[in-house]
Amino acid sequence: MAVMVLIGAQWGDEGKGKATDLYGERVQWVVRYQGGNNAGHTVVLPDGQKFAIRLIPSGILTPGVTNVIGNGLVVNPQALLQELGELERRDIDTSRLLISADAHLVMPYHIAMDKVTERYLGKAKIGTTGRGIGPAYQDKVARLGIRAQDLLDPSILQQKIESALELKNQILVKVYNRKAIDPQQTLEDVLAQAAQFSHRIADTRLLLDRAISRGEHVLMEGSQGTLLDVDHGTYPFVTSSNPTSGGAAVGAGIGATRITAVMGILKAYTTRVGSGPFPTELTDQWGEYLRKTGGEVGVNTGRDRRCGWFDAVIARYATRVNGITDYFLTKLDVLSSLDRVPICVGYRVNGGAGPAAEVDEMPLTQTDFHHAEPIYEYLPGWFEDITGCRSFDELPANARSYVRRIEELSGSRISAIGVGPGRDQTIVLHDLLH
Ligand code: IMP
Repeated sequence: MAVMVLIGAQWGDEGKGKATDLYGERVQWVVRYQGGNNAGHTVVLPDGQKFAIRLIPSGILTPGVTNVIGNGLVVNPQALLQELGELERRDIDTSRLLISADAHLVMPYHIAMDKVTERYLGKAKIGTTGRGIGPAYQDKVARLGIRAQDLLDPSILQQKIESALELKNQILVKVYNRKAIDPQQTLEDVLAQAAQFSHRIADTRLLLDRAISRGEHVLMEGSQGTLLDVDHGTYPFVTSSNPTSGGAAVGAGIGATRITAVMGILKAYTTRVGSGPFPTELTDQWGEYLRKTGGEVGVNTGRDRRCGWFDAVIARYATRVNGITDYFLTKLDVLSSLDRVPICVGYRVNGGAGPAAEVDEMPLTQTDFHHAEPIYEYLPGWFEDITGCRSFDELPANARSYVRRIEELSGSRISAIGVGPGRDQTIVLHDLLH
């Protein structure tokens, strides 16, 4: 039995699809535990077909796997139906998708609030995906949220929509000068959508617990990444949920002691979408080089990703806050053909929150992190094409040294390496499912 958490160790978009390719066919369950349709990753099937997955667990593409949208998610019913429709049109069997009765719903007023608040923040905006994720989580914590189970009880649903909109409409109309949202229409729309998926609503905690007790393998898919976690990320430039591994237990409803491995996905360089601090960001031709060579454009929003060199400080931090047992290093091939490859090993900080210093752990304050200057160590590069390598020993010596140095600085072993986008373009050093 293995219960493995997959978690992005940077700011998301580390290439989790590679890890689900590696393990997805050998597990019986794939569970998402946080976020919503703000996520997006591309999965390439063995026959070359490409799928962009946003809300539904990636196991939907593997026959026989049961997929769970956990209680920790916020589900946009319209986006769910659209994604299901896209999969079904391409002959993917979606019958094994279950939704936790306690998952929250993203309602149209959440999307409206996300957009108006971002506009209102102007230069200070978070750069959200505009999918209503933050406002849906706000309502969850404010105890004004609407859960999947409410769809099974229209009179409760009506009361909840009315009371949520009473306040939201005041804000939309009086503060943001927008049109009020009609509660009756909202109710009718969501009930019509629910009629198409309410048969999937289940007690997924219980089902998962029983499956784990039977010895089945479970893959828990985190979206976004460690530095976008609302508690452990670069707050306030974060998402509104907990992608870190502790969030997996909460957001799937299983005990933390059930987790047997935490695999961190680590890109061989760093990217970020949206606003917020990013010490190793490159705004010169090297940033452009990484963006072009690595194809760094958001799957979900189509936005260009900000790019920079590998940052060992955040990797070490991710190891610590997630309890990462193994790393999957992705996109190593993107770094081929550089004379020398920089690795950030620490920061110079002097943000006004204390005396100038050199640090090799995350600075204490947001101000120091915003002004952190990277301290680089330079490793010799390699020019060979590594996309055909299938064992560690086939990699050029300098690529091997780069990997070993990352491993040393990050503080956890590297168990797999991605050397290209294809399913088979992976070097496995340690197999986590036996
Ligand atoms: P939200 O999740 O839409 O509220 O956006 C909050 C922040 O998280 C923004 O900086 C987004 O760009 C970022 N974000 C959300 N989802 C993803 C993702 O899947 N990959 C990378 N960044 C993301």
